[in-house]
Order: sequence, then C-alpha cells, then structure tokens
Amino acid sequence: MFVVVGVTGGIAAYKTVQLVRELVRAGHEVHVVPTADALRFVGLPTWEALSRNPVTTSVHDDVAQVRHVSLGRRADLVIVAPATANTLAKMTAGIADDLLGTTLLATTAPVVVAPAMHTEMWRHPATTANMATLRARGVHVVGPADGLLTGGDSGPGRMSEPEEIVAAALSIVRPAPGDLDGLDVVVTAGGTREPIDPVRFIGNRSSGRQGIAVAVAAAARGARVRLIAAHVEQALLAEAEQHPAIAVARAGTAAELQDATQQAASDADVVVMAAAVADYRVADVAEGKLTKESSDGTLTLQLVENPDIVAGLAARRRPGQTIVGFAAETAQGEELRARGRRKLARKGVDLLAVNEVGWERGFETPDNSVLFVTATSGDAPEVVSGDKRQVADALWDAVLALR
Ligand SMILES: Cc1cc2nc3c(=O)[nH]c(=O)nc-3n(C[C@H](O)[C@H](O)[C@H](O)COP(=O)(O)O)c2cc1C
Repeated sequence: MFVVVGVTGGIAAYKTVQLVRELVRAGHEVHVVPTADALRFVGLPTWEALSRNPVTTSVHDDVAQVRHVSLGRRADLVIVAPATANTLAKMTAGIADDLLGTTLLATTAPVVVAPAMHTEMWRHPATTANMATLRARGVHVVGPADGLLTGGDSGPGRMSEPEEIVAAALSIVRPAPGDLDGLDVVVTAGGTREPIDPVRFIGNRSSGRQGIAVAVAAAARGARVRLIAAHVEQALLAEAEQHPAIAVARAGTAAELQDATQQAASDADVVVMAAAVADYRVADVAEGKLTKESSDGTLTLQLVENPDIVAGLAARRRPGQTIVGFAAETAQGEELRARGRRKLARKGVDLLAVNEVGWERGFETPDNSVLFVTATSGDAPEVVSGDKRQVADALWDAVLALR
C-alpha cells in the first residue's frame, strides 16, 4: 500500500519514527511529508533513512515530479501523526502553503489524524470546532490519549501509541471481512456513576476504551451496533459516533444502563456487557449538596446492591441470543481462572472476558490482557493480549465460534 505519513511540529514526532518503521516493516511504501516545524523535532535524514524514500517539505523541490499533487493522488492512505493544533486548523481551512497541505487537498484516500497537544490547546473552542469540521468531512481521528504531556503536564492531548494508530488506520483501508454481516449487536461501555448528591458520585476507573473497541470492531465486520455508553472518554466515543453502523445512546447510572440494555437486548443477536457497572448505589441520594456544616467529622453512606444486569439478561435471553460478560478481577494465575469459571456459571453467560486489573493494569491504557472463559473452555481458557482493538476482534472470533 502507498502510505503518506504527514509529520507536524510536536514532540510526539519522535513516536512517529516507530510508526514509520512499523509501516515499512509491514511492506508498505511509505512517503514521509514533514512540515518545516516537524524537522526541528526529528531531522530529515531520519525520515529518509527509515522510509527509504526522498523527503521534502516544500512544493518547490523536485517540481518535474509534480510532487505537490502526485503524492496525494497516489496515496492509498494518509496518516498525520502527530497532528498539531496548527496543522488541524490549516486542514480545516484548506490551507496549502507546504507539501503536506497540498497533499492533503489533492488526496481522495482516507485521512487519519492523531492529534497531539497540551490539554488547553485540545480543549480550546477553535480546536473543538476544527475537529468537528474535519470529522464531518470524513477525517478519521485516533486519540488523543490521556497521559503525560511535554514538560511534565498530564491530561488529554497525548498522541496515541504508534501501534494503535497503525492498527486503526489499516483497519479503515482494509476492513475486516464481513463475518458479522446482518447481526444486531448491543455493546455497553464505560463506567456508571452512582449519585451521592447533586454534585458527587461514586464511579470507577473505566475509560470505555475496551467496550468502544468492541463496538467499532463489530461495525467494521458488518454488524449493526447499538452502543450504550456510560461515562466514557469523549474523544474515544467520537470514533464510534462517526461510524454509520453504530447508534450511540447514553446511560449514567446502573439503573439507566439496565433499562437501556434490556430494551435494546430484546431484539439483539449478541449482547456484550463491557461496561463497568457499579455493584452498589447510594440508598438515599441527598436532594441538596451534603455539607461539612451538618457533619460530626464523619460521613456514613448506606449502599444497596444494584441488580446484576448481565445475569438478568442471560436468564431472559431469547433463543439464539449470545450473552457476553466482562469481569474485572485483581487476582492472578490459577485464582483468576477459578474466579472466571465460577463467575461464568453464576452469571449464566455464554462467554466471559476476564480482565486482570490493578493499580497499574487494565484501565486507561491502550493494551489489555483478557482470559476468555466459555462453558467448554472452562479448564483451558484462552488468553488474548494486545491493543484493545485486537482483543475486541478476538472477542468477536470467540462469539462466532460459539454461534
Ligand atoms: C517544544 C515544543 C513542543 C510543541 N508541541 C506541540 C504539540 O504537541 N502540539 C501542538 O499542536 N503544537 C506544539 N508546539 C507548537 C507547534 O510547534 C507550532 O504551533 C508550529 O507552528 C506547528 O507547525 P506545523 O503544524 O506546521 O508543524 C510545540 C512547540 C514546541 C517549541
């Protein structure tokens, strides 16, 4: 495949070195088009050596080749990583004052951007409006992730990892086989929030990344998807919202998620409960904000158990319906497997994806390691590790094997 990689002026350009290496190693013909500012971060010889193709930033070099349009015309895929706020604004306005700008205007290939910038720049209304315009034009957006930024700051704006960008970009040009064609699937994602009072809640660390990846993978493989999103990272949800085969509904609390899921499940072929649903909710939600004034220095909240949504769905499943549960466990090794087997039986689901989680594992990361337990694989569950999209595809392979 002929891939153009646009590189713009952010520190994350060093990560694009890895991205280019991966594409070249996978056998693609890669042409790097840096901006002039990008070359202040990673030099031209690095891009030429890695891509094994000449690199220039200017429309005035090698004019006989009509480079300013030929790269865009020949491209099967264009990836811009990192995509600075400046370049995203230029793309929105259609500015073509360098080779990357003309290439982006000349191409009809899918364009994937991986934004990277400080949180303030990402959240600025100008950037938000530019992203909305680009998305509406069909530009695919990967990330940004939430994490460490230049200068020690942290927050949303970190460029997604190179492998994640490559996987997302390739799946756009080479969609997976339509082996889920005609299936109606319901996927839940994210963490519920159980209110304490009008301003506080009990939540959990789920970002929704895995559930959204499950929804996007299903849609890419031909399914019609209803995604019920609890609290998720908005930037992640945007990819799902953009997909024509995915309808997104929102649910805040466990009770709302239960209602939405039960309704959607009534005519679904497969239900995947990837949402992290609170086991408990506050018994008496305060009408007004709880204040320290009326407290003796302690606060006691009484919690009541929430209904087990996935067990309820499994108990009432319609004929031929496949129910998939997720379980986050802090156990390891044999204890993790044993808990998975017990949970599969207790919940009555067809497939349980057991997630090993901990302070540093499972949450807010692009990667995951999951144990798939089914009634037949009880003693030898399959372990799948990789980025969350790879885990999602493995989950759909397992669902198809069951059906
Ligand atoms: C050390 C440093 C890091 C920067 N990192 C970013 C960044 O991550 N994202 C961004 O939008 N701009 C960043 N900038 C600002 C851009 O380099 C600047 O807006 C530039 O004009 C972008 O040009 P380009 O989009 O043509 O590459 C950074 C600047 C410096 C000096």
